[in-house]
Amino acid sequence: MIIHSAEFFKSSEKVIQCPDTLLPEYAFIGRSNVGKSSLINSLVNHKNLAKTSSTPGKTQLINHFLVNQNWHITDLPGYGYAKVSKAKKEGFGKMIEDYFLQRQQLQYTFVLIDSRLEPQKIDLEFINWLGENQIPLVLVFTKTDKLSRLKKEQNIAHYKTILLGYWEELPPIFITSAEKKEGMTEILDFIENNNLIYQP
Ligand code: GTP
Ligand code: MG
Repeated sequence: MIIHSAEFFKSSEKVIQCPDTLLPEYAFIGRSNVGKSSLINSLVNHKNLAKTSSTPGKTQLINHFLVNQNWHITDLPGYGYAKVSKAKKEGFGKMIEDYFLQRQQLQYTFVLIDSRLEPQKIDLEFINWLGENQIPLVLVFTKTDKLSRLKKEQNIAHYKTILLGYWEELPPIFITSAEKKEGMTEILDFIENNNLIYQP
């Protein structure tokens, strides 16, 4: 898919405030600092569309971006950031949960996983929660430029083994670096193919 345009569309605190359109939508989520905003910017060839920062917890709303005038990306708050207050964390939890359970336009959830880390409990819990609620997901391993080729392959193979302990089938998997622009074509092709068969 060629990106002709990408623009910020709306920030919402609640799912009922999300854009009232029937465009197909793809959500990006993961632990704080996993590289969501960087991945989104890299996907749509835009340096600063989604705000990136080295301070975790920057994205605190449901942010909609409109791409090529015919589909949406949503950038969701990172989960598992310890320094936000407990009340706020529960708020994020409810906001995220409502979004996933109620957003009809949602096609796939892209769960971002830091390729450098051992499988994290919070990621596995979230992936399993999506699975139990029959919300289609794909996995995106991020920041692979920070690993050697061998270490990258070992970590991803290990992750797959852990997931196969829970699920019979693995979701689609993308291996990416926002920095090196790796894996972007694959993700965009996946979205393009799904948009072709999408029926509101
Ligand atoms: P929150 O919105 O705070 O939850 O974070 P986020 O998941 O949106 O992460 P963000 O894109 O802001 O990136 C966090 C840090 O990781 C930044 O310092 C990025 O420059 C860095 N980063 C993101 N992607 C990559 C990558 O592919 N390679 C490398 N080397 N660094 C990356
Ligand atoms: Mg962000």
